[in-house]
Amino acid sequence: MKLRENMRINAAGHLEIAGCDTVDLAREYGTPLYVLDEEMVRYQCRAYREALAEYYPDSMVVFAAKALMTMAITRIIDEEGLGLDVVSGGELYTAYKAGFPMEKIIFHGNNKSPEELQMALEYGVGIIVVDNLLELERLNKMALQKGRKASVLFRLTPGVEAHTHSYTQTGQQDSKFGLGIRDGVAREAITHALTLPGIEVKGVHCHIGSQIFDIEPYKLAVNVMFDFLEELRTAAGFEAEILDMGGGLGIVYHEGDQPATIEECVQLIAGAAREEAERRNYPLPKLVLEPGRSLVGEAGTTLYTVGSIKEIPGIRCYLAVDGGMADNPRVALYQAEYEGLIANKANRKREKLVTITGKCCESGDMLIWDILVADPEPGDILAIFSTGAYNYSMASNYNRLPRPAMVLVQKGQADLIVARETYEDLIALDRVPARLRLQQFSAVSGDRP
Ligand code: LLP
Repeated sequence: MKLRENMRINAAGHLEIAGCDTVDLAREYGTPLYVLDEEMVRYQCRAYREALAEYYPDSMVVFAAKALMTMAITRIIDEEGLGLDVVSGGELYTAYKAGFPMEKIIFHGNNKSPEELQMALEYGVGIIVVDNLLELERLNKMALQKGRKASVLFRLTPGVEAHTHSYTQTGQQDSKFGLGIRDGVAREAITHALTLPGIEVKGVHCHIGSQIFDIEPYKLAVNVMFDFLEELRTAAGFEAEILDMGGGLGIVYHEGDQPATIEECVQLIAGAAREEAERRNYPLPKLVLEPGRSLVGEAGTTLYTVGSIKEIPGIRCYLAVDGGMADNPRVALYQAEYEGLIANKANRKREKLVTITGKCCESGDMLIWDILVADPEPGDILAIFSTGAYNYSMASNYNRLPRPAMVLVQKGQADLIVARETYEDLIALDRVPARLRLQQFSAVSGDRP
């Protein structure tokens, strides 16, 4: 196993991230703890921006907030000059409260509620991505009521399948997302939208999947999108101003993972778009990319404290930590593979084969199957790498586990950006009807409104 670039082992033999000793972090902030390397996030943002500036200047990088969103992260994304892709009122609200420029927001989602659409119009969100006809009609009406036009992209299913886990493929025809190109539904919807007074059609969008290693399918997707744009130009005289190719680039979770680089991916998509436009004499649309995982995934590490170590003779040694599927459901959901090490024994030989399990009441609550670690003992600090994307954002309170805290580290300094949930937070929204209240409790703490 290789340490990530932002990591080193310090003189105490401890794992250090961005100059912060992870054992000290665990002591100070408790565990489980999400640790996010700020410089690494910024570096990835710049890698996208710079590659696009080189290969396709009229473009925008938009961070897919679903991968990891907090107010502080939203500030970093803004400082780096990226746009933001949100998919719910909650993500939109977070961005709004963090002072993110609303005109740089793209609002996705396959079932936006009327309230969410209303909110988007009121906040002045830049682009709304229309996923279905119900939404189109609603949006048209709402925009007209406000005497405005809503700028929209249409989400299309290009019928391209990226080779990744089937739950994270989204570009294939049989998908809950978007409007079909092959079946003619997309053409009909856009032709209709062009007649709606409350709608301004800016262009088209697709997203072919996530954790993609083989980037060739992007080329095919660009080709299918331009075929469609050409068809639309002929049928309706419409030319797109924006082509949004979504996100999806994979990251390193595990030794042997070899995703394409950001530059390779950008170059391929940008090159394909230029070629297709030129070949068809189509005015070059603005290119939008929406990376999530590849901006924050490898910048995140989760720290846990080792508890029970259970040796089942001849079978397996279970090493249980104080978190699990509640803070990282990806192993249970996608059979995701992670790697990590014992942070306080980072320079010791890893000779003990263990399976790292969480503390949830569920046999599928595993974090890493079969990993070599250094002489594990209760109280050790275990670090799991590449947990920046789709961990905190998919965390739950299963078993009423409070969600972990998150710290942002840079230049040897740590800042708390998400406080640890408390037991009080867990019951804060609970209500006990009067008829169920225990009398003897009511005067003390059980009497919640
Ligand atoms: N744009 C759209 C429209 C998307 O649906 C997504 C991800 C992205 C951009 C960002 O994709 P990324 O660059 O992060 O691959 N929970 C799953 C991943 C679900 C991805 C959903 N959409 C996981 O943990 O692997």
